[in-house]
Amino acid sequence: LRITVLLGGVSAERDVSLSSGLRIAMALREKGHEVICLDPAEGVLTRETERSLLASGVGSAPPSLEALAGLESRALSPVLGTLPELTEADCLFLALHGGQGEDGTIQALLDMVGVPYTGSGHLASALAMDKHLSKVVLRSAGVATANWIMAPAPDSAETLDADDVGRHLDWPVVVKPSKQGSTVGLSIVRAPEELAAAVREAFRYDDEVMIERFVPGRELTVGILGDAVLPTIEIQPVKELYDYECKYTPGMAKEFVAELSPEEASKLADQAKRAFQALKLRGYARIDFRLDPQGQPWCLEANTLPGMTPTSLIPQAAAAAGVLFPDLCERIVQLALA
Ligand code: DAL
Ligand code: MG
Repeated sequence: LRITVLLGGVSAERDVSLSSGLRIAMALREKGHEVICLDPAEGVLTRETERSLLASGVGSAPPSLEALAGLESRALSPVLGTLPELTEADCLFLALHGGQGEDGTIQALLDMVGVPYTGSGHLASALAMDKHLSKVVLRSAGVATANWIMAPAPDSAETLDADDVGRHLDWPVVVKPSKQGSTVGLSIVRAPEELAAAVREAFRYDDEVMIERFVPGRELTVGILGDAVLPTIEIQPVKELYDYECKYTPGMAKEFVAELSPEEASKLADQAKRAFQALKLRGYARIDFRLDPQGQPWCLEANTLPGMTPTSLIPQAAAAAGVLFPDLCERIVQLALA
């Protein structure tokens, strides 16, 4: 097949996406496909550029806000839909993460262009990217998710009252941008006096910020690939928080197949499937959970374009099910063409 891998882009997860996309391209070439890499910010990558990007890897922190602002001005988005690498491919593999690559924007453009692409459609992508709306939908579908409130926008008349937050949610709380990935802009807040700074930091990355009850316990993730629920992966970061650095620095988190009681395993699989259906996801996705000490899973979010980097979780979950990385990539393409 002629496959164009879309990677990079202009979100805070640009570097993660380059790492995911280059690995996917290599894997699909290994399977005999004709693959081109297309970055919405830079255009078609030469093999030389691919090699040097691959060597540089994902850094320990997301690109600075200044670097991202510079990239945005270079985005090719308006002409993307006319590029032959995009319109003439048999399938587009979306290796974009965050922003317009994952929030349904590019999916809607591709629907108009009429080229098949991997993963979820535009509505599901938009819904899953928005953690506030996702949680509303998840709850209505019987998927447990921790209590949360939305922080008032910095320029609104409403003010953030830490005592009020404490009454609703109790400490600690998790403060996060509602539409970001890879833990960018997220912090755990243990005391009322730390709240305002955490909310300010999160608002640097999004115009909506969520304050959520912190669920103690284990960090777990469930991958879905077509009709299959992949083995649950447990994550033990070296820091308390599985943050950007722990996610993309080899050796900073242990990931392994979770040991679960039969009830825990079936609850998790049920909740992951329900979340997948409720959010109208397609093809594949990764649903993240915390499992509290009572054995109750709490859904954090669904990732429609989960990371495919060397330290990412879906590749590890697939490997645990006997599906090696090149076969995983090819299966994702097959699901898009089915
Ligand atoms: N947002 C990152 C790429 C993930 O979910 O793996
Ligand atoms: Mg995410």
